Amino acid sequence: MSARVAPGADSTRALVELDGVAKTFGSGDGAVHAFGPVDLTIGEGEFVSLLGPSGCGKSTLMLMIAGLLAPSAGAIRIAGRAVTGPQTDIGIMFQDNTLVPWRTVRGNIELQLEMRGIAVAERAARIEELLASVQLKGFADRHPYELSGGMQQRAAFCQAMVHDPATMLLDEPLGKLDAMTREAIRRDLQALWMARRPTVIFVTHSIEEAIQLSTRVAVVSPRPGRIDEIIDIDLPFPRDFDVKDSPEFTRYGRRIHEIFRGYGVL
Ligand SMILES: Nc1ncnc2c1ncn2[C@@H]1O[C@H](COP(=O)(O)OP(=O)(O)O)[C@@H](O)[C@H]1O
Ligand SMILES: [Mg+2]
Repeated sequence: MSARVAPGADSTRALVELDGVAKTFGSGDGAVHAFGPVDLTIGEGEFVSLLGPSGCGKSTLMLMIAGLLAPSAGAIRIAGRAVTGPQTDIGIMFQDNTLVPWRTVRGNIELQLEMRGIAVAERAARIEELLASVQLKGFADRHPYELSGGMQQRAAFCQAMVHDPATMLLDEPLGKLDAMTREAIRRDLQALWMARRPTVIFVTHSIEEAIQLSTRVAVVSPRPGRIDEIIDIDLPFPRDFDVKDSPEFTRYGRRIHEIFRGYGVL
């Protein structure tokens, strides 16, 4: 299942399909209807942002797509196959990274290969290439505690990508970083995506970040999260800092603000 589109090409085939997906935690009086129902189809090679207020079920959805949490209703398919358990051909990243403290940066990245039974030696060059692409050349033998928060998240990107997954689930990976670091990593993330074109589902509550990075922005309502509107972001890639000065960017931003005002969130 190495579904992938050529760099620069437009996607047509569906890769991730949500069909009436909903999640309720608990039952009876204590039940929390967290998410859905939502229908959504994401094409191969797309970069789709889920943009919504805190608590609307974004992380819940990511866990369901990863096969780590079962939906209460509906079905999820990846590359035509029903998701019924943990998926291996995906890369995941969260706001808090999952680097283990006792391994070096390289050791942490290799761990992802070891867990999947992929020969580490085969990917040595790929690891070096990935580290260089996120400005971590020369840091492979450092431990996580020797790195800044931004560098740790960069290492976590390498970890999530080293097995070349067709699908990446990124749950607020830049959420805890300062604005300047965030901006710099956005650029690297976009370059990585453009080079290999994995299908990316990216959670953020930054409107600007969503517009800058995405082919489409799915606006999620307050809990229970629903996707009422999906906005095509028709701006050429790569999109650097200057894209924010364009009238189109402003227009997209205004439209999204309007939707959130309608929800009473802004
Ligand atoms: N394991 C769980 N048990 C009970 N409630 C949960 C659980 N996980 C999430 N929730 C609830 O579901 C809602 C959505 O949570 P979450 O998916 O984390 O939102 P988001 O990522 O959009 O901030 C919240 O109200 C949260 O408290
Ligand atoms: Mg979350």
